[in-house]
Amino acid sequence: MRRVAVIGGHGKTGRAVCGALADRGVDPRPLGRADWPDLARAVAGCDAAYVIAPNLRPDEPAYVASALDVLAEAGVGRVVYHSVASPYVPAMPHHVGKAVSEDLVRRSGLGWTILQPGAYLQNLDLCGPLELPYSPDVPFGFLDLADLGRAAAVVLTEDGHAGATYELATRVATVRELADEAGADVRQVPDPEQHPWLSAMFVYYDLHGLPVGTRVLAALLGRG
Ligand SMILES: NC(=O)c1ccc[n+]([C@@H]2O[C@H](COP(=O)([O-])OP(=O)(O)OC[C@H]3O[C@@H](n4cnc5c(N)ncnc54)[C@H](OP(=O)(O)O)[C@@H]3O)[C@@H](O)[C@H]2O)c1
Repeated sequence: MRRVAVIGGHGKTGRAVCGALADRGVDPRPLGRADWPDLARAVAGCDAAYVIAPNLRPDEPAYVASALDVLAEAGVGRVVYHSVASPYVPAMPHHVGKAVSEDLVRRSGLGWTILQPGAYLQNLDLCGPLELPYSPDVPFGFLDLADLGRAAAVVLTEDGHAGATYELATRVATVRELADEAGADVRQVPDPEQHPWLSAMFVYYDLHGLPVGTRVLAALLGRG
């Protein structure tokens, strides 16, 4: 693997993937909005692609389908799709969009791998008081973005990962546990109602959190 296109590669997820690829001697090609009008030219010469959809994309399956079509036409035969932990949750519409997209990836005819990341540790600013629109006492499988990058680089550069779907978490904790470790206060506040999909997610989080096991990531990264 010499060159990998990272579609959606300029955001925080893409930067972590590109950095880890570069650490393995692979040339990452981060692609953003400006590349979509001629995505085929942008991915030409790449051996594989990592596909990240923008946050809360209303038509994520259409976005993923377009990317898959372009990759197939451009002769890029290997794809890794950035999904989410527990995509098959009917109560969270943006998760369901990823479940539908996973099906497209599996039927794309490309050599595929799907990563299902837990909530990023970096979503939480533990430097000061933390206000959450859901319970701080429910369990999450949190994922460090550096680990996400490392896992992406492993599945892109090593054999044996085509046809695999991996849930990824660095550690399981409640937000209160993380806040206590950091010496930060945490309290639950009302939903700011910024987006109906986020509101649905907060209701689900409040009841169930988003637990994810840690053993798959540990195995991928050789952490015993
Ligand atoms: N936050 C979490 O805890 C978490 C957990 C699991 C999965 N995820 C998933 O991770 C993804 C988000 O990654 P992120 O936070 O790194 O995103 P981000 O920082 O918002 O970056 C978004 C990337 O997508 C591109 N983009 C934005 N709008 C676009 C459009 N209309 N058409 C084409 N490209 C567009 C941006 O291009 P430009 O370079 O042009 O700006 C940028 O490269 C989402 O799919 C989310 O569901 C997040």
